[in-house]
This record gives sequence, structure tokens and C-alpha cells, in this order.
Amino acid sequence: MSIASPRLASASGGLPSAVGWAHLLLADRLHPGARVVDATAGNGHDTLFLARLVGPTGHVLAFDVQAEALAATRARLDSAGIDPACCTLVQTGHETLAEHLPAEWRGGVDAVVFNLGYLPGGDKTRITQADTTRVALAVAVENLSPGGLLTIAVYPGHEGGREEQRAVADWAESLPAREFEVQLLRPINRAASPPECWAVLKKG
Ligand SMILES: C[S@@+](CC[C@H](N)C(=O)[O-])C[C@H]1O[C@@H](n2cnc3c(N)ncnc32)[C@H](O)[C@@H]1O
Repeated sequence: MSIASPRLASASGGLPSAVGWAHLLLADRLHPGARVVDATAGNGHDTLFLARLVGPTGHVLAFDVQAEALAATRARLDSAGIDPACCTLVQTGHETLAEHLPAEWRGGVDAVVFNLGYLPGGDKTRITQADTTRVALAVAVENLSPGGLLTIAVYPGHEGGREEQRAVADWAESLPAREFEVQLLRPINRAASPPECWAVLKKG
């Protein structure tokens, strides 16, 4: 008997990656017209994924500290035919999220996506940092709408990654259960430091 191709598999046919889990959850909950934040645009894979989910009536606000990352993101959006007016790209740290959030988005953000670490193929010293990540996470949950989703892909394997992993875990574990559901998805039988996905849902 053959097993049908699983729809939720990673590229190698295994269980979803950390980013794969995040995308599954986002695809399950986001709707056309949604307002979402990509806290780490990088090469734009997540921004494009979000832009497609929210459609031309929605909006993606994407941050990255590197001009190179935002150029790659814009190019990816353009080549996919995404209307530039649907995605605002901001070259600054996500720790300034509170300053850049449009007034009408406050308390009404449908999803915020963090994909931590460094720009693949880019400068590996420009990594997200525990201190600024913590600031951005706090602002992000504060501004989620009821039923809004926050996902965080964490990479403990690089230098500084363990510290950031600890910071994310401490922060996530401190969220009040009456307001938030918090889950962690990660491989548990690998010796190395595999990426993990955190999901935070603001109760509606
Ligand atoms: C793993 S990459 C993101 C991958 C990306 N989401 C994608 O789909 O290609 C992490 C990104 O975070 C960016 N970054 C580092 N510190 C940051 C900060 N304080 N605020 C926003 N972005 C930051 C890096 O420049 C890098 O491009």
C-alpha cells in the first residue's frame, strides 16, 4: 500500500521545518484583507507568503535592518506580481515597531512573524539580538488583535542563538494563560540545535 504524498511535509519529505510550521498556522488563520507584520524580511520568502495570504486588500509591514535584505524582498515581491502598495518595507530594527505601526493598526494586527538569525547568503554578523528581539516581541503581542497569531522561528545553532532562544522561551513562558495560548514545536531527538517554532495566539 502506498502512502499519499503528505501535504505538510518538509522539502525532504519529513515533518515540517520551523518555518513550515509557522506557515501552516498562518495559512490556516489569515484571511484576505488582514494586516500583518513581517518582523524580519530577510530575502522576502515570508513577506511574499504573507502578501499572498492577505491579498490586494490586505497589507504587510516588513522590517529589516539591512538594505540588501529589503532590496531582495522587493525584487521577490515584484517578480511575483505583488502590488507594491500592499507591502511597506521599512529599513530599521523591529524593536522600533511601536513607532512604525499605523495608528489604525494598534491592537488590530492579525499576525506578526519573526524569523530570527542572519540573512541567508548575507552578512552573518548582522543577526537578531536577544535584547532587541525581546522588545519587539512585547510590542507585537500588545498589538495583536483578538485571535491574532504571532510566530517565531528560532535558530539556536549559531553564535548568540542559544541566548536568543533562552530569551524567547523566558518571554513566551511568562505570557499570561488567560490572555494567550503558547506552543513550541521542535525536533526532540536530534543532538544538534535544531530550529524551533513558537506560536502565540491572543485569545479572542
Ligand atoms: C533569518 S533572516 C529572515 C528570513 C526571511 N524572513 C526570509 O523569508 O527570507 C533574519 C533577518 O533578520 C534581520 N535582522 C537582524 N536584526 C534585525 C532587527 N533588529 N530588526 C529587524 N530585522 C533584523 C537580518 O538582517 C536578516 O535579514
